[in-house]
Amino acid sequence: NMAREPDKALTPATLVVLATLGTAAIATTNPGIVARITQKGLDYACQQGVAVLQKELEKITIPTFSGSFKIKHLGKGHYSFYSMAIRGFQLPSSQIKLAPSEGLDLSIANANVKISGKWKARKNFIKTSGNFDLSVEGVSISAVLKLGFDPASGHCTVSCPRCSNHINSVRVHISGSSLGWLINLFHEKIESSLRNRMTSEICKVVTSSVSSKLQQYLETLPVTTRIDHVAGINYSLVAPPTATTDNLDGQLKGEFFRWAHPSPPPFAPPPLAFPSDHDRMVYLGISNYFFNTAGFVYQQAGVLNLTVTDNMIPKESKVRLTTEVFGILIPQVAKMFPNMKVQLVFWASSPPHLTMHPEGLVLTPTLDAQAFAVLPNSSLAPLFMLRLSMNISVMVGATPDRLVGQLRLNRLLLELKHSDIGPFSVEVLQAVMNYVVPIAVIPKVNERLQEGFPLPMPKNVQLFNLVLQSHQNFLLFGADVHYG
Ligand SMILES: *[C@@H]1O[C@H](CO)[C@@H](O)[C@H](O)[C@H]1NC(C)=O
Ligand SMILES: *[C@@H]1O[C@H](CO)[C@@H](O)[C@H](O)[C@H]1NC(C)=O
Ligand SMILES: *[C@@H]1O[C@H](CO)[C@@H](O)[C@H](O)[C@H]1NC(C)=O
Ligand SMILES: *[C@@H]1O[C@H](CO)[C@@H](O)[C@H](O)[C@H]1NC(C)=O
Repeated sequence: NMAREPDKALTPATLVVLATLGTAAIATTNPGIVARITQKGLDYACQQGVAVLQKELEKITIPTFSGSFKIKHLGKGHYSFYSMAIRGFQLPSSQIKLAPSEGLDLSIANANVKISGKWKARKNFIKTSGNFDLSVEGVSISAVLKLGFDPASGHCTVSCPRCSNHINSVRVHISGSSLGWLINLFHEKIESSLRNRMTSEICKVVTSSVSSKLQQYLETLPVTTRIDHVAGINYSLVAPPTATTDNLDGQLKGEFFRWAHPSPPPFAPPPLAFPSDHDRMVYLGISNYFFNTAGFVYQQAGVLNLTVTDNMIPKESKVRLTTEVFGILIPQVAKMFPNMKVQLVFWASSPPHLTMHPEGLVLTPTLDAQAFAVLPNSSLAPLFMLRLSMNISVMVGATPDRLVGQLRLNRLLLELKHSDIGPFSVEVLQAVMNYVVPIAVIPKVNERLQEGFPLPMPKNVQLFNLVLQSHQNFLLFGADVHYG
């Protein structure tokens, strides 16, 4: 009973399979960064790539052709064409088009080749020789570039599984001796030999240029980049690049990792709703995951900490990190530790979290701050520990090869975590902290953020016409490319 099959199919085993498939779909991880090349970018890449291909095609060598002839009344003779060299391989019209699900289509039309060489002919004791020019016209080449990735290295791979070419015409022009007319008798033979040679060599050159030159170039894209003694960025491809009708997209890991001990962070990248912008050659969608892995790595490494001392406070300020000034707010500080400096040690007690919206980027870190009195023998006496919950605006900017940032404190909430000097109301410290954090803590972080973080760029590429927009959960970075 066929109609009952679907019911029967829902056995526990099937449900397990369905559940597994469901989990697999959910478990598919999003990339931390999506790198997109638009048609405009492909047009530029095509120009650059074809210039390289042209040089390779000009290296095609042409073997000597020779043969014998026999003409009524004249008898037998021998000819050869030698020292043939390509003088120019013009590729006036070429295009790279997206071939969804396949990769890229390279098509070259109306190419022409100029060849020059020498000929000689001999009949009995008569020897004659000269030069000739040859043009191969209306050459068209069509090739598929298949893109993939090597999961072991994280690099993009490219191959040329299909290539074909066609030659419209070959024309020989012979100059030189009086026997040139004789050589003209063989032009068909020369033309067809040359056509065969060129036809078989063109696709060999295309295929090997793709698998060596282009592949080597793709390998100059950084996969991991060291940032400092703590962290690196993982820019590995996590899936084969995909061609849609409008763009070529690469999914990159886009993750900071501990250089010494790489391990996955305890959160996953969000999906990234890439807009259809296409007026720049390349775009990077950089998700909040990228920035949050940075926060995670630096916090776990214990380097998000900072000691603030009185000499970091501007000279003219009335707020001083001294037990005298703190004593105005909390009298027992001055009583227990008269005439001493106060030191504040800040550290991130949990990884700072960055949220991204079209309206902007907000960082909401939680810092702990331990206040100490500095005793005359330089040892530190603990005073109290605060928790600071902050709301910080993040301005992200881009230079031609890095992302830079700047923080601005919006709001600071204080909480007393612990006191070594007896109870007091934490509100009395609000004004001091509202002054100290923006003047001594934020600028230190900004100094680091202004150094920036490198973008994944292949060799010899400069970016210009930069644009940067914030979107829900990601930052969209667009640029035009100059190679050279
Ligand atoms: C980078 O990411 C790739 C893909 O997830 C992974 O295979 C590789 O081990 C990562 N490298 C480091 C250093 O974390
Ligand atoms: C601050 O960072 C240093 C390493 O740079 C570390 O040795 C120290 O323990 C950290 N201090 C705190 C309070 O986390
Ligand atoms: C510094 O002085 C304090 C109080 O006078 C004392 O308790 C502490 O042991 C001294 N520390 C050192 C390292 O001498
Ligand atoms: C941070 O502050 C901004 C402006 O003051 C506010 O719009 C936003 O909701 C706050 N975000 C968080 C996570 O507290």
